[in-house]
Amino acid sequence: MIDSQKVQYTLLVCIYMGAFLLTGSESLECHSCTKSDCSDQTVVECAKPMNICTEIIVLLRTGNQSLPVRHKGCASGLSSIISYHVTFDGLTIRHFEFGCDTSLCNAGNTPFSTLPTEPPVVDPPENATECHTCVDTDESRCLGENAQKIICPAGQDRCYRGNGSLLIGNVLQPIFIQKCSSPGCPSFNYHASKWYNLSLSGSCCSGDYCNKILAPVVTLPTNDVGSKFTTKNGATPSATSISLLVIIFAVFAIGKF
Ligand SMILES: *[C@@H]1O[C@H](CO)[C@@H](O)[C@H](O)[C@H]1NC(C)=O
Ligand SMILES: *[C@@H]1O[C@H](CO)[C@@H](O)[C@H](O)[C@H]1NC(C)=O
Ligand SMILES: *[C@@H]1O[C@H](CO)[C@@H](O)[C@H](O)[C@H]1NC(C)=O
Ligand SMILES: *[C@@H]1O[C@H](CO)[C@@H](O)[C@H](O)[C@H]1NC(C)=O
Repeated sequence: MIDSQKVQYTLLVCIYMGAFLLTGSESLECHSCTKSDCSDQTVVECAKPMNICTEIIVLLRTGNQSLPVRHKGCASGLSSIISYHVTFDGLTIRHFEFGCDTSLCNAGNTPFSTLPTEPPVVDPPENATECHTCVDTDESRCLGENAQKIICPAGQDRCYRGNGSLLIGNVLQPIFIQKCSSPGCPSFNYHASKWYNLSLSGSCCSGDYCNKILAPVVTLPTNDVGSKFTTKNGATPSATSISLLVIIFAVFAIGKF
């Protein structure tokens, strides 16, 4: 026990001394995160030849639904700021990225309002198809009312449901999507840059809301229904909670006499 503690202590001292020596040298440190909202931000030391810290924001939007993804890390390249938007068949990608070359220079969270504005939405035709729309990293968040209904724009008379991934920096985010589509039902393989790539594939259907996801079916056991005592949220109280109730009631009753 003591020996292993000593070893751990020595190791810690070495790590601290190492870090101390390294800060003296010119190694770059950057903020880094892997979650789509960057809530897991940490500081990392960049391995050579990476020479810049980056922040990349990609915002996917279809109908009124949008999915912002933020990434920070080390990269190699030049200090720069780039922003643009592109539209593919009912899906808009708004992108902002920057690279800077001093330690921890990617500390701030660039507000989404910095992203370029999208082209205005044009009024849909009279007899337009209506579809569910959703874009999320988790399909379960597109169930039921979360998949908003929209009236499709001209030229998009099919409903689409698909999935794929957004590779941003070195992190792969799963993407699930429902949207309107043109009759060709195109897939996307958008090799955007060395910063991110988007690929999606799916299928189309005809008819209003035909791209709805059905909630997983819960099958109930056929025996022993009816006499079960269920609580408000549908859980069956355990034997211990029932006996606890009996004891509380007994104590209460005894106290009355
Ligand atoms: C909508 O109406 C236009 C003109 O009446 C017609 O050409 C078109 O095929 C219709 N589209 C659908 C999806 O019904
Ligand atoms: C988007 O949301 C706004 C506000 O909630 C609503 O007024 C608008 O009709 C929605 N647009 C679509 C296409 O659903
Ligand atoms: C994506 O869609 C395909 C085809 O519908 C399906 O087989 C696959 O499991 C889906 N993948 C994910 C991660 O949802
Ligand atoms: C995206 O794809 C292009 C072309 O295949 C590739 O050069 C680039 O490195 C990719 N970006 C990422 C972040 O992997």
